[in-house]
Amino acid sequence: MHAPTETLTFPFARRETFHPPPENAELRHKCPIVKVKLFDDSESWLLTKRKDCCAALAAPQLSADRRHAAYPEIHEGGGKAKAQTPTFVNLDDPAHAEQRGMLEAWFTPQAAEKMRPMMRRVVEANLDELVGKHGEHTREPVDFVQEFAGLVPPQVIYHLLGIPEEDIPALSRDSEVRTSTARDAAQSSNRNLQAYMEQFVKGRIESPSPKDDLVSHLVAGPYKQGKLSLEEIVNLAFLVLVAGNAALINSIALGVVTLHLHAGQRDELKEDPKLAKDVVLELTRYNTTSALNSRRAVNEDVEIGGQSMRKGDKLICSVQSADRDEEHFAHPDRFDIHRRVEPKDVLGFGWGPHRCQGEWLSRVELEEVFAVLYQRLPDLKLAVPVESLEYTPATQNMGVTAMPVVW
Ligand code: HEM
Repeated sequence: MHAPTETLTFPFARRETFHPPPENAELRHKCPIVKVKLFDDSESWLLTKRKDCCAALAAPQLSADRRHAAYPEIHEGGGKAKAQTPTFVNLDDPAHAEQRGMLEAWFTPQAAEKMRPMMRRVVEANLDELVGKHGEHTREPVDFVQEFAGLVPPQVIYHLLGIPEEDIPALSRDSEVRTSTARDAAQSSNRNLQAYMEQFVKGRIESPSPKDDLVSHLVAGPYKQGKLSLEEIVNLAFLVLVAGNAALINSIALGVVTLHLHAGQRDELKEDPKLAKDVVLELTRYNTTSALNSRRAVNEDVEIGGQSMRKGDKLICSVQSADRDEEHFAHPDRFDIHRRVEPKDVLGFGWGPHRCQGEWLSRVELEEVFAVLYQRLPDLKLAVPVESLEYTPATQNMGVTAMPVVW
């Protein structure tokens, strides 16, 4: 194995915006575990092969605690997050397992299946609104991110939390703002949501008749047992709301871009919406919308993939690279909805104790989106060439920020 002569700076620039940076494949072939330089001139291990990422993400010697000095940040903004009280996403076991366990019943494959009809209603209602506003066919470009992809994921979570139906439209507008890049708008929206959520949780605490939603269950269980405070329930509700929001929005938008580029497979889906499950399996592998999520601090000396690492080292798993690892997937750069991908193959949902808790919810939601979208809008297509779409910067997970479409 040869280390590159110069230390590479991570994250790598996206030259061909839609495809993973070429450094991923080069490193997988030549030097799958390498030191890279981060924005603050510190160094981190970067792992690019699937088996090494799995080993690292399951290793008890690594910590997901963001307050740890060795937790790698990708840009300056990360420092602010270090100062905040962590949710279980950034805690280690046993505290992590205890808090995660309080939510688990809502995120099993069975729970996600139970939510499928609600998700279908949300998808259909948003498509009805789109058609109501712009017509059965339109030649005027409509921003698909603003008017569809950005709306469905938070609405699904509001239903899961138990937010009353009549409050959802106003809150959806708020979270639409929250995902925008305008700093002030984002902050004021957060404050509105924060105030709303506090009142909502208080209402559930004071309610004489418990309801069947996530917040009511947290109140009836951990709150009454003195294991969670009101503030902690509000924080968990926020976590559930924001944890997968961007990844889901990006998965919907990038899914449409990918199917636009693979029109034959898109037409197969149009013919047979039952293919949505296979389409989603392959989309989650191919697009890995959480490319920068899986980072750790080395808490005890450890050997991973034959490489010794010392306590205090930083480590980043390139799950985007792992999802294109030729040792695991034949012709990994080929988008093929007929390849036999198993859910556990996709490292875009992570691995080990911190593997995405929202994985099943996300899969079912994406299946509902792709099963219905092309039935309702069979002529949906991009209004601009793929190269001129606006993508997120390389320091953020891969996504499309604006996406003009016609149908
Ligand atoms: C396509 C959509 C999604 C993708 C690609 C994704 C990806 C990921 C990844 C890679 C991790 C692991 C991070 C690590 O290793 O440190 C993760 C963790 C997590 N995700 Fe997701 N996520 C998605 C949607 C969601 C949704 C919708 C929710 C909630 C409703 C959610 C909740 C969580 C939580 C709570 C964790 C932390 C789990 C833990 O630390 O035990 N995710 N996600």
